[in-house]
Amino acid sequence: MQTATLLRRKSLRVAPLFAASLLAAAAFAAPVMAAAPDAGQAQYEPQVGQAGKDVVWVPTPQALVDKMLDMSQAKPGDFVVDLGSGDGRTVITAAKRGITAHGVEFNPDMVALAERNAKAAGVADKATFTAGDLFQYDLSKADVITMFLLPSINERLKPELLKLNPGTRIVANSFRMGDWTPDEEATVGDGCTNWCTALLWIVPANVAGSWSVDGKTLKLEQINQELTGTLGDAAISDARMLGNQISFTADGKRYTGTLEDKVLKGTVEGGGAWHATRA
Ligand SMILES: C[S@@+](CC[C@H](N)C(=O)[O-])C[C@H]1O[C@@H](n2cnc3c(N)ncnc32)[C@H](O)[C@@H]1O
Repeated sequence: MQTATLLRRKSLRVAPLFAASLLAAAAFAAPVMAAAPDAGQAQYEPQVGQAGKDVVWVPTPQALVDKMLDMSQAKPGDFVVDLGSGDGRTVITAAKRGITAHGVEFNPDMVALAERNAKAAGVADKATFTAGDLFQYDLSKADVITMFLLPSINERLKPELLKLNPGTRIVANSFRMGDWTPDEEATVGDGCTNWCTALLWIVPANVAGSWSVDGKTLKLEQINQELTGTLGDAAISDARMLGNQISFTADGKRYTGTLEDKVLKGTVEGGGAWHATRA
Protein backbone atom coordinates (compact mmCIF):
# COMPACT_ATOMS: atom_id res chain seq x y z
CA MET A 1 0.00 0.00 0.00
CA GLN A 2 1.25 3.51 -0.80
CA THR A 3 2.63 5.61 2.07
CA ALA A 4 0.33 8.49 1.10
CA THR A 5 -2.73 6.23 1.52
CA LEU A 6 -1.46 5.04 4.88
CA LEU A 7 -0.91 8.59 5.98
CA ARG A 8 -4.48 9.48 5.10
CA ARG A 9 -5.74 6.47 7.08
CA LYS A 10 -3.55 7.26 10.07
CA SER A 11 -3.80 11.03 9.98
CA LEU A 12 -6.17 11.30 12.95
CA ARG A 13 -4.11 8.99 15.13
CA VAL A 14 -0.50 9.86 14.32
CA ALA A 15 1.18 12.96 15.79
CA PRO A 16 1.27 15.59 13.05
CA LEU A 17 5.07 16.03 13.13
CA PHE A 18 5.70 12.33 12.70
CA ALA A 19 3.06 11.93 10.04
CA ALA A 20 4.29 14.93 8.09
CA SER A 21 7.78 13.54 8.17
CA LEU A 22 6.88 10.09 6.97
CA LEU A 23 6.86 10.96 3.30
CA ALA A 24 10.40 12.25 3.71
CA ALA A 25 11.22 9.18 5.74
CA ALA A 26 9.95 6.93 2.98
CA ALA A 27 12.48 8.47 0.63
CA PHE A 28 15.48 7.63 2.86
CA ALA A 29 14.19 4.34 4.22
CA ALA A 30 17.00 1.87 4.55
CA PRO A 31 16.22 -1.50 3.04
CA VAL A 32 15.04 -4.01 5.59
CA MET A 33 17.83 -6.38 6.52
CA ALA A 34 17.90 -9.36 4.23
CA ALA A 35 16.88 -12.65 5.75
CA ALA A 36 16.68 -16.08 4.24
CA PRO A 37 13.00 -17.06 4.09
CA ASP A 38 12.13 -20.16 6.03
CA ALA A 39 11.17 -23.03 3.76
CA GLY A 40 7.56 -22.77 2.69
CA GLN A 41 7.07 -19.36 4.31
CA ALA A 42 6.11 -16.35 2.18
CA GLN A 43 8.52 -13.46 2.81
CA TYR A 44 6.90 -10.62 4.74
CA GLU A 45 7.94 -7.20 3.50
CA PRO A 46 7.03 -4.31 5.82
CA GLN A 47 6.26 -0.92 4.28
CA VAL A 48 7.69 2.28 5.74
CA GLY A 49 4.76 4.14 7.33
CA GLN A 50 2.66 1.03 7.87
CA ALA A 51 0.22 1.17 10.76
CA GLY A 52 1.34 0.14 14.23
CA LYS A 53 -0.63 -0.02 17.46
CA ASP A 54 0.42 3.42 18.74
CA VAL A 55 3.12 4.41 16.25
CA VAL A 56 3.67 3.62 12.57
CA TRP A 57 6.81 1.75 11.49
CA VAL A 58 9.69 3.88 10.29
CA PRO A 59 13.13 2.31 10.69
CA THR A 60 15.97 4.11 12.45
CA PRO A 61 18.88 4.71 10.04
CA GLN A 62 21.75 2.35 10.87
CA ALA A 63 24.12 5.26 11.57
CA LEU A 64 21.75 6.47 14.28
CA VAL A 65 21.26 2.97 15.71
CA ASP A 66 25.05 2.86 16.14
CA LYS A 67 25.09 6.35 17.69
CA MET A 68 22.25 5.55 20.10
CA LEU A 69 24.06 2.46 21.37
CA ASP A 70 27.35 4.39 21.61
CA MET A 71 25.68 7.16 23.62
CA SER A 72 24.09 4.66 25.99
CA GLN A 73 27.52 3.12 26.64
CA ALA A 74 25.82 -0.29 26.43
CA LYS A 75 28.38 -3.06 26.91
CA PRO A 76 28.44 -6.85 27.29
CA GLY A 77 26.77 -7.68 30.61
CA ASP A 78 24.10 -5.01 30.09
CA PHE A 79 20.52 -5.79 29.11
CA VAL A 80 19.18 -3.57 26.31
CA VAL A 81 15.44 -3.31 25.58
CA ASP A 82 14.07 -1.71 22.40
CA LEU A 83 10.45 -0.57 22.79
CA GLY A 84 8.63 -1.03 19.47
CA SER A 85 11.44 -3.01 17.90
CA GLY A 86 10.26 -3.09 14.27
CA ASP A 87 12.52 -5.26 12.10
CA GLY A 88 14.87 -5.79 15.06
CA ARG A 89 17.80 -3.66 13.87
CA THR A 90 18.64 -2.05 17.23
CA VAL A 91 18.40 -5.34 19.12
CA ILE A 92 20.48 -7.13 16.47
CA THR A 93 23.13 -4.37 16.41
CA ALA A 94 23.42 -4.58 20.21
CA ALA A 95 23.71 -8.38 20.01
CA LYS A 96 26.49 -8.06 17.42
CA ARG A 97 28.34 -6.03 20.07
CA GLY A 98 28.04 -8.98 22.46
CA ILE A 99 25.16 -7.44 24.44
CA THR A 100 22.00 -9.34 25.41
CA ALA A 101 19.10 -7.41 23.91
CA HIS A 102 15.34 -7.80 23.68
CA GLY A 103 12.74 -6.17 21.47
CA VAL A 104 9.06 -5.62 22.31
CA GLU A 105 6.90 -5.25 19.22
CA PHE A 106 3.12 -5.34 18.87
CA ASN A 107 3.01 -6.56 15.26
CA PRO A 108 3.62 -10.36 15.24
CA ASP A 109 4.71 -10.27 11.58
CA MET A 110 7.44 -7.79 12.51
CA VAL A 111 8.47 -10.00 15.43
CA ALA A 112 8.79 -13.00 13.10
CA LEU A 113 10.79 -10.86 10.65
CA ALA A 114 13.09 -9.63 13.44
CA GLU A 115 13.64 -13.21 14.60
CA ARG A 116 14.56 -14.27 11.05
CA ASN A 117 16.92 -11.27 10.80
CA ALA A 118 18.57 -12.18 14.12
CA LYS A 119 19.02 -15.76 12.94
CA ALA A 120 20.49 -14.61 9.61
CA ALA A 121 22.90 -12.32 11.50
CA GLY A 122 23.98 -15.25 13.70
CA VAL A 123 22.90 -13.56 16.95
CA ALA A 124 19.59 -15.30 17.72
CA ASP A 125 21.00 -16.38 21.11
CA LYS A 126 21.49 -12.76 22.23
CA ALA A 127 18.76 -10.98 20.23
CA THR A 128 15.25 -12.02 21.27
CA PHE A 129 11.79 -10.55 20.80
CA THR A 130 8.37 -10.52 22.43
CA ALA A 131 5.12 -9.89 20.59
CA GLY A 132 3.20 -7.56 22.87
CA ASP A 133 2.34 -4.08 24.02
CA LEU A 134 5.33 -2.03 25.12
CA PHE A 135 3.25 -0.49 27.92
CA GLN A 136 2.85 -3.95 29.50
CA TYR A 137 6.55 -4.87 29.42
CA ASP A 138 8.46 -5.01 32.74
CA LEU A 139 11.41 -2.66 32.26
CA SER A 140 12.92 -3.14 35.72
CA LYS A 141 15.76 -5.39 34.47
CA ALA A 142 16.83 -3.09 31.63
CA ASP A 143 20.15 -1.26 31.84
CA VAL A 144 19.48 0.53 28.55
CA ILE A 145 16.15 1.31 26.87
CA THR A 146 16.04 2.43 23.25
CA MET A 147 12.97 3.79 21.48
CA PHE A 148 11.72 5.51 18.36
CA LEU A 149 8.13 6.30 19.28
CA LEU A 150 6.38 9.69 19.57
CA PRO A 151 6.64 12.63 22.00
CA SER A 152 3.21 11.73 23.46
CA ILE A 153 4.23 8.08 23.98
CA ASN A 154 7.55 9.13 25.54
CA GLU A 155 5.62 11.34 27.96
CA ARG A 156 3.28 8.48 28.84
CA LEU A 157 6.31 6.31 29.60
CA LYS A 158 8.10 9.01 31.60
CA PRO A 159 6.62 8.29 35.09
CA GLU A 160 7.57 4.60 34.81
CA LEU A 161 11.02 5.38 33.40
CA LEU A 162 11.76 7.76 36.29
CA LYS A 163 11.06 4.90 38.75
CA LEU A 164 13.77 2.67 37.22
CA ASN A 165 17.14 2.09 38.88
CA PRO A 166 19.21 5.28 38.97
CA GLY A 167 21.73 5.14 36.15
CA THR A 168 19.42 3.34 33.70
CA ARG A 169 20.05 4.89 30.28
CA ILE A 170 17.23 5.76 27.91
CA VAL A 171 18.01 6.72 24.34
CA ALA A 172 15.41 7.96 21.87
CA ASN A 173 15.48 8.64 18.19
CA SER A 174 14.50 12.30 17.66
CA PHE A 175 11.55 12.72 20.04
CA ARG A 176 11.71 14.43 23.43
CA MET A 177 10.06 13.52 26.74
CA GLY A 178 8.06 16.51 27.95
CA ASP A 179 9.77 18.49 30.71
CA TRP A 180 12.51 15.85 31.24
CA THR A 181 15.34 17.46 29.31
CA PRO A 182 17.88 15.09 27.76
CA ASP A 183 21.29 14.79 29.46
CA GLU A 184 22.94 14.52 26.05
CA GLU A 185 21.98 15.07 22.43
CA ALA A 186 23.87 14.29 19.23
CA THR A 187 23.14 14.33 15.52
CA VAL A 188 24.86 12.05 13.03
CA GLY A 189 25.92 13.26 9.59
CA ASP A 190 27.58 10.96 7.11
CA GLY A 191 24.73 10.14 4.78
CA CYS A 192 21.97 10.32 7.41
CA THR A 193 19.23 12.57 6.03
CA ASN A 194 16.17 11.95 8.24
CA TRP A 195 15.77 10.88 11.86
CA CYS A 196 19.43 11.54 12.65
CA THR A 197 19.28 12.87 16.25
CA ALA A 198 19.77 10.77 19.37
CA LEU A 199 18.67 11.93 22.83
CA LEU A 200 19.98 10.39 26.06
CA TRP A 201 18.42 10.50 29.53
CA ILE A 202 20.03 8.95 32.60
CA VAL A 203 17.53 8.03 35.33
CA PRO A 204 18.35 10.27 38.31
CA ALA A 205 18.46 9.09 41.91
CA ASN A 206 15.93 10.86 44.10
CA VAL A 207 17.76 13.15 46.54
CA ALA A 208 14.99 15.64 47.33
CA GLY A 209 14.79 16.63 50.99
CA SER A 210 17.11 17.79 53.76
CA TRP A 211 20.65 16.57 54.31
CA SER A 212 23.18 17.31 57.07
CA VAL A 213 26.51 18.39 55.64
CA ASP A 214 29.33 19.07 58.05
CA GLY A 215 27.19 21.22 60.40
CA LYS A 216 25.12 22.82 57.61
CA THR A 217 21.79 21.82 56.08
CA LEU A 218 21.59 21.03 52.37
CA LYS A 219 17.99 21.46 51.25
CA LEU A 220 17.22 19.99 47.84
CA GLU A 221 14.17 20.22 45.61
CA GLN A 222 14.19 18.03 42.53
CA ILE A 223 12.32 17.95 39.22
CA ASN A 224 13.58 15.08 37.08
CA GLN A 225 17.40 15.51 37.18
CA GLU A 226 17.32 19.25 37.97
CA LEU A 227 18.03 20.39 41.54
CA THR A 228 17.42 23.68 43.33
CA GLY A 229 17.86 24.52 46.99
CA THR A 230 20.25 25.87 49.59
CA LEU A 231 23.41 24.90 51.44
CA GLY A 232 23.22 26.76 54.74
CA ASP A 233 22.21 30.30 53.72
CA ALA A 234 23.61 30.04 50.17
CA ALA A 235 21.44 29.19 47.17
CA ILE A 236 22.85 26.37 45.07
CA SER A 237 23.16 26.69 41.28
CA ASP A 238 24.08 24.57 38.24
CA ALA A 239 22.78 21.60 40.24
CA ARG A 240 21.76 18.21 38.89
CA MET A 241 21.73 14.44 39.29
CA LEU A 242 23.21 12.21 36.61
CA GLY A 243 22.16 8.77 37.80
CA ASN A 244 23.75 8.57 41.26
CA GLN A 245 26.12 11.47 40.63
CA ILE A 246 25.36 14.88 42.10
CA SER A 247 26.91 18.23 41.24
CA PHE A 248 26.13 21.77 42.38
CA THR A 249 27.76 25.11 43.12
CA ALA A 250 27.36 26.88 46.49
CA ASP A 251 29.25 29.90 47.81
CA GLY A 252 31.33 29.90 44.62
CA LYS A 253 32.54 26.33 45.21
CA ARG A 254 31.78 23.36 42.97
CA TYR A 255 30.61 20.24 44.80
CA THR A 256 30.59 16.84 43.09
CA GLY A 257 29.75 13.51 44.65
CA THR A 258 27.94 10.19 44.53
CA LEU A 259 24.92 8.74 46.32
CA GLU A 260 25.92 5.41 47.80
CA ASP A 261 24.08 3.51 50.55
CA LYS A 262 21.93 6.58 51.33
CA VAL A 263 25.03 8.76 51.83
CA LEU A 264 26.13 11.59 49.55
CA LYS A 265 29.88 11.97 49.47
CA GLY A 266 32.42 13.60 47.24
CA THR A 267 34.85 16.45 46.87
CA VAL A 268 34.81 20.24 46.75
CA GLU A 269 36.71 21.76 43.85
CA GLY A 270 40.01 23.17 45.03
CA GLY A 271 40.37 20.64 47.83
CA GLY A 272 38.39 19.01 50.62
CA ALA A 273 35.79 16.34 50.95
CA TRP A 274 32.08 16.56 51.81
CA HIS A 275 29.69 14.04 53.24
CA ALA A 276 25.91 14.24 53.72
CA THR A 277 23.34 12.08 55.45
CA ARG A 278 19.56 12.53 55.51
CA ALA A 279 18.57 15.10 58.16
C1 LIG B 1 8.96 4.12 14.46
S1 LIG B 1 8.99 2.36 14.54
C2 LIG B 1 10.61 2.06 15.23
C3 LIG B 1 11.14 0.67 14.96
C4 LIG B 1 12.52 0.38 15.54
N1 LIG B 1 12.59 0.62 16.97
C5 LIG B 1 13.56 1.21 14.86
O1 LIG B 1 14.05 2.15 15.51
O2 LIG B 1 13.89 0.94 13.69
C6 LIG B 1 7.88 2.05 15.90
C7 LIG B 1 7.53 0.58 16.10
O3 LIG B 1 6.73 0.46 17.28
C8 LIG B 1 5.74 -0.53 17.05
N2 LIG B 1 4.65 -0.25 18.01
C9 LIG B 1 3.71 0.73 17.94
N3 LIG B 1 2.93 0.72 19.03
C10 LIG B 1 3.39 -0.30 19.83
C11 LIG B 1 2.99 -0.81 21.11
N4 LIG B 1 2.00 -0.28 21.82
N5 LIG B 1 3.68 -1.85 21.61
C12 LIG B 1 4.72 -2.42 20.91
N6 LIG B 1 5.13 -1.97 19.69
C13 LIG B 1 4.48 -0.92 19.17
C14 LIG B 1 5.37 -0.36 15.61
O4 LIG B 1 4.76 -1.53 15.08
C15 LIG B 1 6.73 -0.04 14.98
O5 LIG B 1 7.38 -1.21 14.55
